[in-house]
Amino acid sequence: MMKVTNLRKRFGELVVLDGIDLEVQRGEVVAIIGPSGSGKSTLLRCLNLLEKPDDGTIEIGEATLSAKKYSRREAHFLRQQTAMVFQNYNLFKNKTALQNITESLLVTKKMKPEEARKVGEALLEQVGLAHKADSYPITLSGGQQQRIGIARALAVNPHAILLDEPTSALDPELVAEVLQVIKAIAERQTTMLIVTHEMAFAREVADKVIFMAEGKIVEQGTPEEIFGDPQNPRTKKFIQQVGAPLELIG
Ligand SMILES: Nc1ncnc2c1ncn2[C@@H]1O[C@H](COP(=O)(O)OP(=O)(O)OP(=O)(O)O)[C@@H](O)[C@H]1O
Ligand SMILES: [Mg+2]
Repeated sequence: MMKVTNLRKRFGELVVLDGIDLEVQRGEVVAIIGPSGSGKSTLLRCLNLLEKPDDGTIEIGEATLSAKKYSRREAHFLRQQTAMVFQNYNLFKNKTALQNITESLLVTKKMKPEEARKVGEALLEQVGLAHKADSYPITLSGGQQQRIGIARALAVNPHAILLDEPTSALDPELVAEVLQVIKAIAERQTTMLIVTHEMAFAREVADKVIFMAEGKIVEQGTPEEIFGDPQNPRTKKFIQQVGAPLELIG
């Protein structure tokens, strides 16, 4: 489903991804945790070439790309395998909620307008925003905007959804509604990579937790292993600092 081999990225002298090897199975939900600056966002951004990796190979869905040398066509094909959910939503401000979701269907997938609208409306329903189809982002709460962002990512039916701290820009009272939507999607066997600081959420929803530090995957395992019985001293220290999630969220 997804296989990343020896992925490397540096910004100038700074090595940000220091040989990442990663395998994700279909339907698996992977939470990526780790200290600030450890390369979590860069890893997600390299998977869809928002950042250009220096070395390694990326296989996602039907696409395989060798970072050293690839064509524009290969890059385009790899990008089509995933959809990204951003921390700051990144919605089109001049488009309604529904238009934000259907844009890629109309433009990239060349879907007929009435068909795209049906898909869009079904997705709005899924994220609990059927009544906001014609609303513009500025009139929506952060939690609602992010749910639109998630619906937009689902619209293209990608092999995997990449979420980079999807709730960290939200006011605390809006976090739960977005996590609930992500949880519901996770339960429907959608492959997801989520960078998150929400440890309780990671513990409850993830099949696998990856702990990154200084551009490396230091340790990975089930939530029980990583939160309950971390092996690596750095993982232990991190889990201690952020507080192991004892209680599961409802
Ligand atoms: N465009 C860039 N140019 C130069 N350095 C960058 C760039 N993007 C990221 N970096 C550096 O790469 C390192 C990893 O950044 P990254 O954003 O991947 O970390 P992160 O794990 O997502 O951190 P956080 O938890 O704070 O979001 C950091 O030291 C950062 O300063
Ligand atoms: Mg980040």
